[in-house]
Order: sequence, then C-alpha cells, then structure tokens
Amino acid sequence: MTSRSRFSTVKGTRDLLPPETRVWAAVEATARRVFETYGYGEIRTPILEDTELFVRGVGEATDIVGKEMYTFLDKKGRSLSLRPESTAPVARAFVEHHLSDWPAPVKLYYLGPQFRYERPQAGRYRQFYQIGAEAFGDDGPWIDVELLLMLRRFLGELGFEDLVVLLNTVGDRASRAAYGEALRRYLEPRRSELGEDSRRRLETNPLRILDTKLESETALLENAPALQEFLTPESREHFRVVCDALERFGVAFQVAERLVRGLDYYTRTVFEVVSAGLGAQNAILGGGRYDALISELGGSEVPGIGFAIGLDRLIDVLPESFRSRQAGARTIGVVRAGGVVVEEALRLAEELRIAGMATLVELGERSVKAALKSCSRRGCQLVVLLGEEELRSGTVAVKDLATGAQQSVARAELLRTIEER
Ligand code: HAM
Repeated sequence: MTSRSRFSTVKGTRDLLPPETRVWAAVEATARRVFETYGYGEIRTPILEDTELFVRGVGEATDIVGKEMYTFLDKKGRSLSLRPESTAPVARAFVEHHLSDWPAPVKLYYLGPQFRYERPQAGRYRQFYQIGAEAFGDDGPWIDVELLLMLRRFLGELGFEDLVVLLNTVGDRASRAAYGEALRRYLEPRRSELGEDSRRRLETNPLRILDTKLESETALLENAPALQEFLTPESREHFRVVCDALERFGVAFQVAERLVRGLDYYTRTVFEVVSAGLGAQNAILGGGRYDALISELGGSEVPGIGFAIGLDRLIDVLPESFRSRQAGARTIGVVRAGGVVVEEALRLAEELRIAGMATLVELGERSVKAALKSCSRRGCQLVVLLGEEELRSGTVAVKDLATGAQQSVARAELLRTIEER
C-alpha cells in the first residue's frame, strides 16, 4: 500500500473517522432521545432543493443566499442548490405534505449535512452538520419556552455548564421593516464611515449591520435608533412572558439587543447559544420564530419556531465527561495457536459477538506473539487463546494483556468468566 494518495477531501470538507465518529453518534443519539421526549419526530428532507426555495425562504439579500450557496444547473437546466440550512426545506415539506392538517403543534427534528461556500476556518466548514428542530402552528410564547427548556435539557445531558443563551426579539415583520428603514435613514448620512460590507447591507439588509464586529461601526451604532422602540405591544408582551418564564425555570440567559440573526425569516423571539471555548465562530446554535415563512412559501398563515445546532462546533467544545463515557466498549481478542484452523477461531468470535461483546479475531497466519501485539495495539484488554490442546479439552485460555496473567477456562464458562472481569 502506498501512503501517497492522489485525492484528498475537497476544501472545507473533512472525513470523520472512528473513534471520533462514536462520539458524534452518541451526541446524535442523545438529541434523538431528548427531542422525542418533547414530542418531536424525525424528518428527513433531500440535500438538493430548488434554488428558489432558499431565495424566497432564507432571503435573497442574506449572505447565505447571496454568496454562500452551492448552486448549479442540472442536465435539464433547472437551478438546484445544496441545502445551506434546513428550516426552509422543512417548511417546504410542511406545505407539500399538508401538515397543517395534523394536530398542532407539529414538531419535527432533523440531523444532517448542510453546505455553505464560506471561507474555511476553525469551526467553519463548507460541509457542516446540524441537528435542528422546528415546531409549527403555535403562536404563543410557551412553545418558545418549551423549546429552550428542551435545549437546556439536551446540552445539560452532554455535560455543558458554561454556555450562554443570548435572547432577543426582532418584532413582527412590520416592526422589523420599519426599524430597518429607520436604521437606514440614520446610517445613510454616515455612509462614508461604514465598511464595504455594511455599505452594501445599507441597501439590501440594514438590520444585519448590527452584527458588525468592526469597532468603528459599533461606536457609530451606539446612538442609532433601537429596535426595541419599534416593537408592537404584542411582541413586547410575548418577549416578556418568555423571559419571565425562563427565569422561573432557571434557564440562564442574557438579553442581547443587537442580536438579529443572519436569515431573513425571523420574527419576534431569536436566540443563540455561544461558548467561550470557541474562537470567532462562537455560536453553537441559533434559532428563533419565523411566523411568516410558511405563508411566504405558499402555505397558509402558520407560525413556527426552531433552532439548529452546529454539530461540528458543539463537538469541538464537548465536555470531557461526556466524551470519556463514549471511550469505547471493551474489545475481546481471539487468537489461535498453530494447528487450529481459522474457522474454529471465527466460530468462537461469533459466539462472543452474539452475546454482545465487541470481538476482534486474528484471521491471518500470524504468530501468536504478533497476534497478541496486534490485539494490544487495537485496545484489547482480554484475549481468548485457542490452541490444539484447548480444542481437545473443550477449554480456552483467557489472557489479561495488562498483567500477563493467563487462566484456563471451560468453554461453557467463557462468557461468564469474561463478564465477571
Ligand atoms: P444558522 O445560525 O445559520 O441558523 O446556523 C445554525 C448553526 O449552524 C450555527 O450556530 C453554527 O453553529 C452552525 N453553522 C453555521 N454555518 C456553519 C459553518 N459554515 N461551519 C460550521 N458550523 C456552521 C440556521 O441554519 C437556521 N436554519 C436555524 C433555525 C432553525 N432557525 C429556526 N429554525
């Protein structure tokens, strides 16, 4: 085998290998279990969608749609895109399958890859993974609260303690638009003090300027009109109920008045969870309400709320306590001495595997010494040795690789012996 390969992963994508994939699978299993206890069922949507779905759903002026989509024409000239996020696809499925006929709220979760053509850096990939959840058909504040309780439960089960929930309200569509206009009027005369990105956003999406990381712009924004002044009494009250309830449930959060999120569909409650352990890309998850998305995509007036967790980032800062619990089940090695055919060893391994034990079996023609070394390198603590003598007497030898101690055990007693160790 040559160690040189002509191919490598495409920029911004990566392979995930064992044992790391075991950690990923355990996080995913935790999400499934927790989300199911809150009444969410899994939805799987295609990775490919009509480009127009994201243009309409996420918004043409957003960075995601404007700059970051993997878009191409198929052989019939249709414009398709790899999904950059999954809220618009799930909303499409909601409309397409008439899920408004189901009892509300309709609660769905998903896991899977998303694609954005961004500049790769720590915590930012072009193919990344999300675990998300969406609840449709409930207009009130309590579903917002329940969703955040579910997130707390999930992150708590993973052992996180130091995460910060940032919470804000962006008001309904009309308030958001009115505020965007006010911000534009305030910034227009100061246009020359803005950076290139913000000058562009001034035309397309002034709210996004609030996300700026440039100090000169932050200073400029200090005296800008505040989004809070534009909220309707209903939006204010909704937000108040959410905040008060979260306090009573003991969910730690901070109100972040500048948090607007980068997708156009948000209305009222928005949130992010950030980790101090991450660098510039510090948001582990983001979400919020999108009360007009379903109607925007051709459905009826159905409100919604949801979030998506960036799995790559979550795993970067995953607490060691959870990680070490997935350190791998004990693996038993099966090694045969000369004179014993491979089939006998494989038969013994099958017995152990049927009993649920992870088992490696030496299938090649290696010496016992080499086989034992290989078992040790692959993390086995116990090895079952099968020689001609053992075959004749219906026994096996069980060897502890850490201590070197070896004991002869009747074949019928093997499972019990291993389990007791
Ligand atoms: P988003 O904020 O664009 O929201 O993405 C959610 C999370 O995905 C981010 O907080 C981050 O952890 C992760 N993420 C985003 N881009 C990348 C990347 N290039 N590399 C690694 N991780 C990344 C949404 O996608 C919305 N659909 C969330 C939502 C669901 N809102 C309502 N329902």
